Amino acid sequence: MRDEGESEEFLLLNPGPVPVTREVRAAMDAPMVSHRSSEFEAVYERVQAGLDYVFEHSTLSGRSTSSGGTSLALNGTATMGMEAAVANLADDDSEVVALVNGKFGRRFARIAERHADCTRVEVPWGESFDLAEVDAAITDDTDLVTMVHNETSTGLLNPVSGVGRLASEAGARFVVDGVTSVGGDVFCLDDWNVDVAVTDAQKCLATPPGISALYVSEGVESELDGEGAPFYEDLEWHLRKAGNDQTPFTSAVPLFRAMAVALEDVQDEGMPARIRRHRRQAAAFREGFAAMGLDAFPDARGPTVRSNTVTAVALPETVRADPDAFFAAVGERNVSISGGQAHLGGDVFRVSNMGSFDDDEVLRGVRTVGEAMRDVGVDVDTAAGVEAAREEL
Ligand SMILES: Cc1ncc(COP(=O)(O)O)c(C=O)c1O
Repeated sequence: MRDEGESEEFLLLNPGPVPVTREVRAAMDAPMVSHRSSEFEAVYERVQAGLDYVFEHSTLSGRSTSSGGTSLALNGTATMGMEAAVANLADDDSEVVALVNGKFGRRFARIAERHADCTRVEVPWGESFDLAEVDAAITDDTDLVTMVHNETSTGLLNPVSGVGRLASEAGARFVVDGVTSVGGDVFCLDDWNVDVAVTDAQKCLATPPGISALYVSEGVESELDGEGAPFYEDLEWHLRKAGNDQTPFTSAVPLFRAMAVALEDVQDEGMPARIRRHRRQAAAFREGFAAMGLDAFPDARGPTVRSNTVTAVALPETVRADPDAFFAAVGERNVSISGGQAHLGGDVFRVSNMGSFDDDEVLRGVRTVGEAMRDVGVDVDTAAGVEAAREEL
């Protein structure tokens, strides 16, 4: 259950960290135990079972999409998970192809550039990849391909399935950032040829920030020998310890407790229902903002579509002159949303529906944006926006 005071008073619509329930918060408020105790091992076991469920059953039917693999919870945010995946699968002699159409695709490229020889397939942020161009970049010499499934910086859902096929045909490993899709949208492991998937606690899993998770496919597991891997992120070591419900180093015990409860909530809802809810709520944001007269930011073409977890909207020209006034008007209504990242700062706003929002909170988000737009002199039709959003819900 969400704290009533919180949902009425303050609505956190940023694309992470997202609101967490009272039960998840309460799980952190317990006497400390040793990370080497049987109590902690029981928590790790619950976390791993929950992660297995989410990673392996993120479909509309709930079917399993994995023929075998292991979930790992990591002490560190998703960026550490991204680096762990790359640095365990690539070294100085490796060729990596990194797909970049937003901030997090670029982050993968930057990580790969530190560990290997990296070629970027880069399009302007918010634009779609051309699979023919990706195909041309992936060669028989490519060892690893990285891409972001849901590009949080632009609100685009990228074609992991198509790129996974190209990587597999070239015999390359495929590492996918599912940070803002896993737990909220369809994500297929074997069908998409994903070797390692990364996600974060603080997004669709509705856990406080600080820890992250990986899914390592069986084929990769057998290849890891720890040689050359970063000490803290040696996945062979992490996998060995996980076999005993442990982590190699001291764990953030309260965060693991929180994640165990949050993942049990996900299991109670069931991934098919959870995906449908996320899709419905994102459609409500999209249609609501469109009906009030605002333009979507990303240019979704071909196999790329707009995200079901993060909605990015172009700020009208008049607001771009002073975006802070708009964000302040949103904040005055006790709602928090995000602006654009890096060079998109001042060009867009972004809202999230990741985690466990109820429909009224989505409607409040639409209404708040409309009212704040009017405060700064933009002639939007807030009522039409709220009505269109309601129809989607
Ligand atoms: C798609 C994506 N990947 C990676 C990250 C990095 O997460 P963190 O900052 O928790 O390391 C984020 C954070 O917003 C993200 O949205």
